[in-house]
Amino acid sequence: MRHAIRFLLGHEARTIESCDPTLTVLDWLRGPERLIGTKEGCNEGDCGACTVVVVRPEGPPGAERLRYRAVDACITFLGQLDGCQLLTVEHLRGADGTLHPVQRLMVEEHGSQCGFCTPGFVMSLFALTKDPPAATGDARSSASPIDDALAGNLCRCTGYAPIVRAAERALAAPEADAFDAAHDATLARLLRLHDAETVAVAGPRGRFLAPATIPALVDLVAEHPRATIVAGATDVALWVTKGLRVLDPVIWLGRVRALRVVDETPDHLSLGAGVSLAEAGTHLARLHPDLGELFRRHGAAQTRNAGTLGGNIANGSPIGDAAPALIALGARLHLIGRGTEREIPLEDFFIAHGRQDLRPGEIVAGVRVPKLGPETIFRAYKVSKRFDEDISALLGAFRLTRDGGTVTQARIAYGGMAGTPKRALRAEAALAGLPLDAALVPAVRAALAQDFTPLSDMRASAGYRLKVAGNLIERLIHESGPHAPETCLAAIREPAHA
Ligand SMILES: Cc1cc2nc3c(=O)[nH]c(=O)nc-3n(C[C@H](O)[C@H](O)[C@H](O)COP(=O)(O)OP(=O)(O)OC[C@H]3O[C@@H](n4cnc5c(N)ncnc54)[C@H](O)[C@@H]3O)c2cc1C
Ligand code: FES
Ligand code: FES
Repeated sequence: MRHAIRFLLGHEARTIESCDPTLTVLDWLRGPERLIGTKEGCNEGDCGACTVVVVRPEGPPGAERLRYRAVDACITFLGQLDGCQLLTVEHLRGADGTLHPVQRLMVEEHGSQCGFCTPGFVMSLFALTKDPPAATGDARSSASPIDDALAGNLCRCTGYAPIVRAAERALAAPEADAFDAAHDATLARLLRLHDAETVAVAGPRGRFLAPATIPALVDLVAEHPRATIVAGATDVALWVTKGLRVLDPVIWLGRVRALRVVDETPDHLSLGAGVSLAEAGTHLARLHPDLGELFRRHGAAQTRNAGTLGGNIANGSPIGDAAPALIALGARLHLIGRGTEREIPLEDFFIAHGRQDLRPGEIVAGVRVPKLGPETIFRAYKVSKRFDEDISALLGAFRLTRDGGTVTQARIAYGGMAGTPKRALRAEAALAGLPLDAALVPAVRAALAQDFTPLSDMRASAGYRLKVAGNLIERLIHESGPHAPETCLAAIREPAHA
């Protein structure tokens, strides 16, 4: 047992022996550390004013490299920094006061306007230059990498153009910086911080526990049945910052390497529950480009860097983006507890609103996703009020197997249409055995009306949801014809039929 959280703040080693389990990095920086360059805007992960960069060794043992990830400090707990380097805007300037290239370009392009949102923009741009698009393998994405990197930073005066110009110059002529020079030394220091001990730190309001192995994790979960499991904290932190809840104890999964494993066979892709949404999207995009596009529209870069695939499933949200797509693909969920292990079809996990098939002491360990066969069509459509950084009003995902023109098997799942992500069994039956053409649409719309009784809420009315659910089927049929675009989103931005 290690009774301390250890990380680097800039290049300075920090050891925290006492802290509340849900103290946010933002409150710690601006409070006891008096590092007030990092700003508080929304305190819920939406505006990016608090963006900091978390640096971790990633890659196979012995071949690790440092990866720089922008995250929102307002929804990151201090304990989640264990084993990392935390960089804030204060750390970018050189020892002699020279601005970092990204800061200099922001000045030259007049990108610092109100000044309040500027540190967040600078940190997102810094992360972009450290992990440029070519290295992310996101070539099939229809988004501009700069828009993508900045979608989680709000400029309330809408002066994005100079900021984007600074980003364009930073990417066009990358400049080595002090962090590159210190890469190997920092990597070695961070690797030395990693151990197999369980971290246990307490503060006046509770305990923060962070096991490093699966056996230690399942033991802790069994011993603390009232503990709150935290993965990326992009949901849980809001219970604290907005709901003012006290959580004790917290069990953080982020140190368990085995939960971040990605494994591939000729038939399946397996993703550990702790794989970040950013990484999951990159892997799933290889199964179908729509999956890459779908994950890229999950929140913004900061949310995808912190949030995990397991958290997106385990939260049971009816409007979580991963579940409908994975259900349509036929994914199976891997659940583990002390001495127990089971695998279930993902759709069976969602029992009712707020009720998942998670037994006491169990956690979600990962998901196994079948690959698509040659006669299979897959499509996933997210419908939200804004393109980026918005939660779905509804989401439809479709996997159809065809023999010639006839549908032999259909798996259809929607989010936002019921209290859980759910299969549209009647709509599936209405498609099966028939040629996939527009004549089917009325029957499928009627079947959808039997499958679902959607709610009206701030995101959409019940009538809108039902109408759009049918429209998505129409679109699926249209896009499955001879002029099918490679991805549905590419079709919006660059009409494939033009
Ligand atoms: C700004 C913002 C934008 C967002 N946009 C989207 C969006 O576009 N689409 C979307 O779907 N969601 C969105 N979300 C919600 C959130 O990002 C996702 O649900 C995310 O996947 C949660 O993952 P996490 O690792 O952060 O989970 P956490 O917050 O750590 O945990 C979420 C829940 O799952 C439980 N849990 C986590 N991991 C496990 C596990 N392995 N086993 C058992 N229980 C577990 C926790 O106890 C908690 O109940 C957004 C959130 C924010 C703040
Ligand atoms: S303060 Fe708005 S994202 Fe953190
Ligand atoms: S520059 Fe800060 S709000 Fe626009």
